[in-house]
Amino acid sequence: MQFLMNNVENNKSIPTHVAIIMDGNGRWAKKRSLPRILGYKQGIKTVKKIIEAANSFGIEILTLYTFSTDNWKRPSTEIKVLLTLLREFIKKELIKLNNYKIKLRILGDLSKFPKSVIIDVENACKTTSKNTGLKLNIALNYGGRQELLRAFEKMLAYGIKKPTEEIVSSFLYTAGQSDPDLLIRTSGELRLSNFFLWQIAYSEIYVTSKLWPDFTKCDFKNAIIDFQKRERRFGGIL
Ligand code: IPE
Ligand code: IPE
Ligand code: MG
Repeated sequence: MQFLMNNVENNKSIPTHVAIIMDGNGRWAKKRSLPRILGYKQGIKTVKKIIEAANSFGIEILTLYTFSTDNWKRPSTEIKVLLTLLREFIKKELIKLNNYKIKLRILGDLSKFPKSVIIDVENACKTTSKNTGLKLNIALNYGGRQELLRAFEKMLAYGIKKPTEEIVSSFLYTAGQSDPDLLIRTSGELRLSNFFLWQIAYSEIYVTSKLWPDFTKCDFKNAIIDFQKRERRFGGIL
C-alpha cells in the first residue's frame, strides 16, 4: 500500500491508462438470491467509487467496459433496465463529473440505443468536452472486432492503401489515446470477451475473483501495486 501511496505522491509508475472489464454483477445478485438487476445497481455504486479512485490516483485514462455488442443477446427486459440505469447515472453524475474536470468519451456504436439514451449520453460528452482532467471512456455497444471492421471501412473510404499501426490506431474509438497499461477483469473469468483486441497488445493483465459490485478502492490499489511489480519488456531485453 505504502509503495503505491509513495508513487501516487510523486506520480511514478502509475499506469497512464487503466481499462476494466466490470464483470460479475449478475453473479453478485444470484449469490444473494436477488434479481440480476440489483447486481447492476450495486455495480453502478462501484463505478462511482472507482472513478473517484482513478481520479485520486492520478490515472490519466480510465476505460470501463459497460455493454458489449454481444450483450444484446440478453433478455430485452434486462437490457431495458440496464439502459435506464445507465441514463440515470449519466444524468445524475454529470455535475460531479464536470466538477472533477472529467472528460467523457463513448467507445462504441451508440446508434443502436434508444434516442433518449443517445441524447443524454451525447449531452454529457459535449458538456465535459473541454475538461482537462481524467479521461473517462465508457465502452457502450462496443466490440473489439466491430471496432476494427469500422476502422478498415473508414480507411478504405479515405483511400488508404498502406495502413501503418499509427493509422489503424487513429481510426479506432480510442484515437489519440495511449493503449491501456493495465487491464483489470473482475469475477475471475480468464477471457477478453471481445474487448480492446488491438489496444491490449502489451497491456498488463490483472484478474481478480472479486465480483464487480464487491470491488473496492483498496482492490484497485492492489491491482496497481501488482502492476508496479511487473517487468514490461515490450519484446526487448531489460
Ligand atoms: C457485467 O456483469 C456487466 C454487463 C455485461 C452489462 P454481468 O451481468 O455479465 O455479470 P455476470 O457475469 O452474469 O455475473
Ligand atoms: C464482458 O462481460 C462485457 C462487459 C463487462 C460489459 P460478459 O459477461 O458479457 O462476458 P462473457 O459472456 O462472460 O464472456
Ligand atoms: Mg458476465
